[in-house]
Amino acid sequence: MIDVRLEHVRPFVEDETRTNDLKTRLKEAKKALQEKKGPGSAFTGWVDLPARTRQELDRIRVLAARHREMSDVLLVIGIGGSYLGARAALEALDAYFPHDDEPEVIFAGHNISGEYLEDLRDYLSDKRFSINVISKSGTTTEPAIAFRFFKRLLEERFGADEAKERIVATTDASKGALRTLADKEGYETFVIPDDVGGRYSFLTPVGLFPVAFKGHDIESMLDGAENARERYFTDSEGMNPLDAYVMYRNALYESGKKIELFVHYEPKFRHLSEWWKQLFGESEGKDGKGLFVASASFTTDLHSLGQYIQDGERHLFATVFSVKEPRRVSVIREEKNDSDNLNYLAGTTVDTVNKKAMEGTLIAHESGNVPSIVIETDKMDAYTFGHVIYFFELACALSGYVLGVNPFDQPGVEAYKRNMFALLGKKGFEDRAEELAKRMKKTR
Ligand code: PA5
Repeated sequence: MIDVRLEHVRPFVEDETRTNDLKTRLKEAKKALQEKKGPGSAFTGWVDLPARTRQELDRIRVLAARHREMSDVLLVIGIGGSYLGARAALEALDAYFPHDDEPEVIFAGHNISGEYLEDLRDYLSDKRFSINVISKSGTTTEPAIAFRFFKRLLEERFGADEAKERIVATTDASKGALRTLADKEGYETFVIPDDVGGRYSFLTPVGLFPVAFKGHDIESMLDGAENARERYFTDSEGMNPLDAYVMYRNALYESGKKIELFVHYEPKFRHLSEWWKQLFGESEGKDGKGLFVASASFTTDLHSLGQYIQDGERHLFATVFSVKEPRRVSVIREEKNDSDNLNYLAGTTVDTVNKKAMEGTLIAHESGNVPSIVIETDKMDAYTFGHVIYFFELACALSGYVLGVNPFDQPGVEAYKRNMFALLGKKGFEDRAEELAKRMKKTR
């Protein structure tokens, strides 16, 4: 399913003591995760999600079909782990440009832009729409603002009773403002299990309901994830592709590479990169440790970041995500006068050109002291997407344990929220507001 190519990274990881030590730490990490004895073990329920979510498949599909009947657009309101997976999946699986009769999924609540809300209201003015509001805590500011805004629009358009029928809330079983509101208003709800953190929640209704609304095969997605679980987690003999990825990225980090650049050569993986960045950034970046995760879309970004990557400070490596078979093939045609000098490519597919660009870049980067780990899949479909999601979730959790951090918490995210609430005058943040006022006076 997934192959990891190591020929462009091996020359950089030659220290046997380091690799042996990493192999031992990785083995211990896997054992800790399997036995639920590592840091944050109360949040490792995602490991068994492929089997657990199967029990909910029918309900997800039936509800998705009902909303597809009544709406042209599903507005998915959420941020971070409550949004990125679904967006990544739809971008990876859908055609680049929508067909006329296709249901549409639009995302909101992942920014604090009034312009975005107003423009989206205009866009929705002649459309039948439903809302899927997703928040595990049920208290996150960005989605709460967007939900208030669009719930009102639904009520104005369809009346209070029908508006309720058009809302699905995905949230905690018992806690948070969204749960209270959903119970009070009688919305349909999905539960995000207590033992699954936001960024590990794609394989719950958080990710699967929007994907099912669009008509993709969510059972196949779970099959792909289940297969990843068997291959990389249950079967721990030898060095599988996931072990190799975890080991090499940590070996590079320990030998001084501080930035991991997730690179793809197909623009439809932009949000897979965003999801990956959030997963690894929030899981590993703590206690003064962790790779800084960034991303680039090649070949587009070879014309912007390419110079730096080839020649700038030597503190990065690339993780290249590549799909062998494109969904569609486009062939370059011969032209009589060859005025653009492209006839040497006549008969070649555009994908072949893309792959040659990739191979050429891998070699150039290796020469420029930028190692690359290549993660390859045969194709991209619902099954593979589920497999890839599980692969990276597991790699991230094990990598966090190898690094010596708790990959399931995110204490650092609270810092900006406390200041924002204090500056907005929210009740309970008076002391912080006073501290900030003094600090701002001093620095002005
Ligand atoms: O991974 C995480 O825990 C976060 O990125 C959350 O998903 C994000 O902050 C949204 O939180 P919530 O679902 O509680 O609104």
